[in-house]
Amino acid sequence: MSEPVTISFAKHGAAPSGVLLVLTDETLGFGKETQKLLKPVLDFVARAMEADRFKGKLGGALDLIAPEGLPVSRLVVLGLGKVAELKSTDYLRLGGIAAGKLPAGTTAAMLVADLPTGKFSPDAAAEIALGARLRSYKFDRYKTRKKDDETDPVALTFTLSVADVASATRAWADRAPVAEGVLMARDLVNEPSNVLDPPEFANRAALLTSVGVEVEVLDDADLSRIGMRALLGVGQGSIKESRVVVMRWNGGLPGTAPVAFIGKGVTFDTGGISIKPAAGMEDMKGDMGGAACVTGLMHALAARKAKVNAVGVIGIVENMPDGAAQRPGDIVTSLSGQTIEIINTDAEGRLVLADVLWYTKDRFKPQFMVDLATLTGAILVALGSDYAGLFSNDDTLSAQLTAAGQATGERVWRMPLGPEYDKLIDSKFADMKNTGGRNAGSITAAQFLQRYVEKTPWAHLDVAGTAMGSPATDINKSWAAGWGVRLLDQLVRDNYEK
Ligand code: BES
Ligand code: MN
Ligand code: ZN
Repeated sequence: MSEPVTISFAKHGAAPSGVLLVLTDETLGFGKETQKLLKPVLDFVARAMEADRFKGKLGGALDLIAPEGLPVSRLVVLGLGKVAELKSTDYLRLGGIAAGKLPAGTTAAMLVADLPTGKFSPDAAAEIALGARLRSYKFDRYKTRKKDDETDPVALTFTLSVADVASATRAWADRAPVAEGVLMARDLVNEPSNVLDPPEFANRAALLTSVGVEVEVLDDADLSRIGMRALLGVGQGSIKESRVVVMRWNGGLPGTAPVAFIGKGVTFDTGGISIKPAAGMEDMKGDMGGAACVTGLMHALAARKAKVNAVGVIGIVENMPDGAAQRPGDIVTSLSGQTIEIINTDAEGRLVLADVLWYTKDRFKPQFMVDLATLTGAILVALGSDYAGLFSNDDTLSAQLTAAGQATGERVWRMPLGPEYDKLIDSKFADMKNTGGRNAGSITAAQFLQRYVEKTPWAHLDVAGTAMGSPATDINKSWAAGWGVRLLDQLVRDNYEK
């Protein structure tokens, strides 16, 4: 139902139509191009700013209807705050705010990328475009009726007026695939579990062949031959088959070790025999947010032809409590050979990841592994939804992830690991148990994963608080965030290309 948004660029001087968006700062000044365009209404705009006590603060907006003398239906003045202090993430946010100011049914909008002081970089223009694209996303596939005040969806062309069309277009061409990856991840997370079961998730991942990703789908028979019994144990209480999908993008030098991304893909988590309470259980359709991110990321890397060898491996299962389901007290032998006593069948994500991490490490000998998982409710208690938890055995990788988090606004906060925590998952009957008790729940989960990575540089991102259900932001109004695609794309860009 929601129509695509087309981003386009036009050279300064092009005539606006539809909604015109212009930028000002705390001095309430306008750039040269904006002044030219607003000439017939400059006085009117100045009076409107005054009357509305509009101060040009970052994030503020003044919305004016059909000013006489301009060929547009609306004029929106957006605040930049202090131009000298603007960061990349501010431009991203501005793009989101701009798109949010467009009334339903808008078919054309033009934002004049022009500063009161200094030059507008092509990257800043492309960040605005990215913010506008991400903000315009809606998941309304299953809405068959619209409310009285809703219009039929229309296609929107969002044009940025820039000094140099070629360089802005190039900057956007590098980001458009990342936007697509984020939206792909959001779609996967928003999709209900009766539609997106493990085989269907694998089918969707297999579509990445269209951008040049090699995709391998392993089914129940393959997984049992390989020996992924920890993963299969989680899926055995469901009538749905389990899947592992291996996605490979070879854009780097032949023979260089790949970077590896691993995702938890529990298409629905009832908790299994250790069943969850009913309230809020519907949110567990999003328990595959890690796998969705890895899929979106692999799309982004391939579609923008990143100069890197990358593999994405996702473990996809449904955690259900039928007669064949795994029980507390069961002991399973993981692919690594290590045995696990199941204490709580609701601590299933780590069982899936244990096998997928070991498999990825053994088969690909990657430069590093980063896993993403909606792993613990405890990470929400610790960090809320503003930071993902970062756990790592490698200071360099941690620093790179932290820097990428600052650059993209998808922030991570490093949490401790150590032998004190590790011993909390020792078991009476097996090599380890799958839970470590009430305290430090996110850390003991990470300790469990660490037992499956050996010496490989590794980072685990607990995204239970960030992948879905976070409060709306300027660049996302949807339940699913598509969190991590931009973060990991940035990690690769900054450190692992060529
Ligand atoms: N998928 C959940 C974690 C989760 C909670 C994700 C809230 C998103 C929002 C995970 O499988 C789980 O159930 N974890 C348990 C672990 C416990 C049994 C040790 C938890 O956090 O309670
Ligand atoms: Mn669970
Ligand atoms: Zn789960």
